[in-house]
Order: sequence, then C-alpha cells, then structure tokens
Amino acid sequence: MTDKKTLIIEGKEVEFTDEPNLLEVIRKAGMNVPTFCYRPDLTSFGACRMCVVEVEYPNGRKIINSSCTMPPEVGVKVYLNTEKVRRIRKTVLELLLANHDRKCLTCDKSGDCELQKYAEEYNIRDIRFPDKAEKEYLPIDDSSPSFVRDPNKCILCGACVRACSEFQGHSVLGFANRGSKTKVQPLNGRPIGQVDCINCGQCVAVCPTGALTIRNEVDLVWDQINNPEKTVVVQMARQFVLL
Ligand code: FES
Repeated sequence: MTDKKTLIIEGKEVEFTDEPNLLEVIRKAGMNVPTFCYRPDLTSFGACRMCVVEVEYPNGRKIINSSCTMPPEVGVKVYLNTEKVRRIRKTVLELLLANHDRKCLTCDKSGDCELQKYAEEYNIRDIRFPDKAEKEYLPIDDSSPSFVRDPNKCILCGACVRACSEFQGHSVLGFANRGSKTKVQPLNGRPIGQVDCINCGQCVAVCPTGALTIRNEVDLVWDQINNPEKTVVVQMARQFVLL
C-alpha cells in the first residue's frame, strides 16, 4: 500500500497521484488559475507566467512559480491569489496588451478571446508600457484558404507551434528571432499559403487570441444568398474540412 500524497491548496487538503504538474492538481481540486500557454494535451511550455502561484514549504520558505511547470510536492501550501501573484499577473497582462493590436471591436475573436477575458477579470484600465503594436504593425497573412494569421495579435504562447508539431508532426509554424524581436512565423518566413500546411485547423483551435482565426466568409455567403441567379445550398461544418 502506498502512502497518500497530499498538499494544501487555499487551506484545503488535496490528494494527488501522478498529475504532471501543480496546475492539474489545482484543477482537480475544483479551483483554477489563469493560463495562456498551458494546454493539457500539449507539452508544458512555461512561457506566459499567468499561472503563477505562491508556494509555502513546511520550513516556511516561500516561492512564486508557474504552476504549469512545477511538480506537486507533498506538504506544501499553495496560495492562488495573493497580492504578489495578482500583481505579477496584472503586469503580464499589461505587457501583452502593450504589444497587442487592441482593435477588439472588429476582431473575429472578440467575445471569445482569453486576453480580453483576463484583461476584464483583472480590471486592466491603464497600460503603463509604450504601445508597441502601433509602431511596428506587421502584415496580416491571409494566404491560407482556411484561416488568417495576424501576428499583431500573437502573444507568443507557442500553443500553435506545439499543436502543429505534436498533433500533426508537421512543424509548419515556428519561432523566429530572439528577445523582443521574437515572433511566430511559417517556415522560412513565407506566407502560410506557400508552405506545407494541411489546413487541419489545430493551430487555430488552440490560439487564445485573434492571432489565428478561421477565414470568415459570412459576407460571401450572404452575397450568394441574395443573388437571384443562384440556388444556394449552405452546409455548416463544425470546424475545418481537410482539403
Ligand atoms: S500557463 Fe503556465 S506559464 Fe503559461
């Protein structure tokens, strides 16, 4: 018989077994912390730092760490929303928003955007950092028949890069450059329509913002419906159709 392994989350004793990280234990206990880069079906990346929590060890030592990369440890106390932790998350959000095209009203992802949701939840009203997106506007890539890539809305969470590689074994998307110049781009910086993309849509499905969105053809459908010369049959598809 193996000993029961437990830790304390927000005062509640929680048992854990083989969860790969602290975040999964938090979620198993019915609690949550915000995430951008973590996807349970992809490898942990630890890039965004939104999932930070405060952890207190039995000897009194306290650390702040990202819960998606930290293994659960017996006997630690975990705090999800301390002042320090919330301040870090707010700073992360401000930095991301300073780098982000914030034309939310006309964004296809508006209302379903995780950055928008957390900016609201964390009451972000002022952004202390210079607005980089205005100065360095990158061209939108609409060369794919299935989706549109807007690098001005990318938060570098890397979910699309991992989905392309881990779900499809394709690696059509990757990181380029370093530091503040880092960006996600298709192979060799070419338009997505000119690389070996199979239009599976996995990258779009995991993108938390409007950086990757399904090509919107609603207006085209309405034009055809209103064309008296045509009999129009429309078929709804849940996600993508492989071409
Ligand atoms: S969700 Fe944990 S670092 Fe991004």
